[in-house]
Amino acid sequence: MFMSDLSFQKAQKLSGEVLLPGDKSLSHRASLFAALAEGESVIDRFLVSGVTRMMLNALTSLQIPWRLEGERLVVTGQGLHGFREPLAPINCGNSATTIRLLAGALAAAGTPCILDGSAGLRKRPMERITEPLLRMAVPITATAGCAPLHLMKRAAHQPLKEVDYTLPVASAQVKSCVMLAALAADGVSTIREPGPSRDHTERMLFSMGADIRTTKGVVEVYPLTRSLNPLHLSLAGDISSAAFLLVAASIVPGSSICIRDVGLNPTRTGILDALRGMGALIKLENERLVAGEPVGDIHLSSGALKAITVCGDLVVRMIDEFPAFAIAACFAEGVTVVRDARELRFKETDRIAVLCGELQKLGVQLEMFDDGFAIHGKTLKGGVGDGAGDHRIAMSLAIAGLASPEPVIVQHAEILNESFPDFVTQIQTLMK
Ligand code: S3P
Repeated sequence: MFMSDLSFQKAQKLSGEVLLPGDKSLSHRASLFAALAEGESVIDRFLVSGVTRMMLNALTSLQIPWRLEGERLVVTGQGLHGFREPLAPINCGNSATTIRLLAGALAAAGTPCILDGSAGLRKRPMERITEPLLRMAVPITATAGCAPLHLMKRAAHQPLKEVDYTLPVASAQVKSCVMLAALAADGVSTIREPGPSRDHTERMLFSMGADIRTTKGVVEVYPLTRSLNPLHLSLAGDISSAAFLLVAASIVPGSSICIRDVGLNPTRTGILDALRGMGALIKLENERLVAGEPVGDIHLSSGALKAITVCGDLVVRMIDEFPAFAIAACFAEGVTVVRDARELRFKETDRIAVLCGELQKLGVQLEMFDDGFAIHGKTLKGGVGDGAGDHRIAMSLAIAGLASPEPVIVQHAEILNESFPDFVTQIQTLMK
């Protein structure tokens, strides 16, 4: 686990193969959904990190028994209505996935609860979940549209109202929140979304026996008529963590790496399409389905990178990868443009403003738009940046140092422990 400032300097080349910890989105879902099942779930390759600890702590507050044995998580699920009222507000830390998915599960359970989080989480928009939940007759209030969220008691036998809801923006967290509440509704709920957000909730709940039907852009959730089956699975590696290694190998000439057993869900593989479009050589091998999720090995060899434009649905399919992608853009020939990405302003930080500000500190010439940015390649020099309370920004700035003319120092880099505590070790493995 890494603490404090982090500095990387020009690397010769990256080579070799690595295996990454489990996917963050899948880890959040597996732990929460296991709590809603009846009986013991065994989840291997669980991501043990800052944000997933928040979900586990929340389960403790709700009196769900769980234990970690290394990367194996064992949860004794108590059923859809099995949460006990917590004695104090639940602190979700920096984790929007925890607060938004938990709100949906608590709505289904009818458990009264206050959900709160860090100063950063308290700034993130929550009316995007309270609005559909209120339509479903969930007794919930936000605080000026943000956390803390107050869920009031509802009798367990009293179903919620089914809903036909169109998401204003593509968001897997909002979709998942509504889906979880819909498990306790009095009829079939329909959720429509404007873009292809990650569909892990659909796949995992379906694998546990829930009646979930999907067609392009529409999810139908049938109320649960029997309890969810426990999970017995090994999670896929995190493609969002892999992205930092892939970009690092793309920008260091002569690199060739392999990342084994990574999740290749098509709603998450936008970064592979983007890097391919820029000229990185990417090959997938050993592709297979594991517990309903596509998994495979990613081979990447560096090639001369050229600028591209990213917009439309591709933005949704790589929504967490823009900090890493921006570093590839810094080493590409030409001007890389990102549009249709206003959602980046509502992540752990305002990722358009903070990312552009930090890159400018390293000498990068760029333009900022309301919904994206344009990066002039080959202008990054190096210098001192800041993690700025955003794990993905910290890791992105760090990998820039592997190929920049001068080293990069990242202050407050310990924030990377939120999602990828192994980051430094994995980079070092590839540098040898
Ligand atoms: C996530 C969904 C995405 C993503 C986040 C994890 C999830 O957020 O940015 O890191 O696990 O459902 P949105 O739903 O807000 O797009």
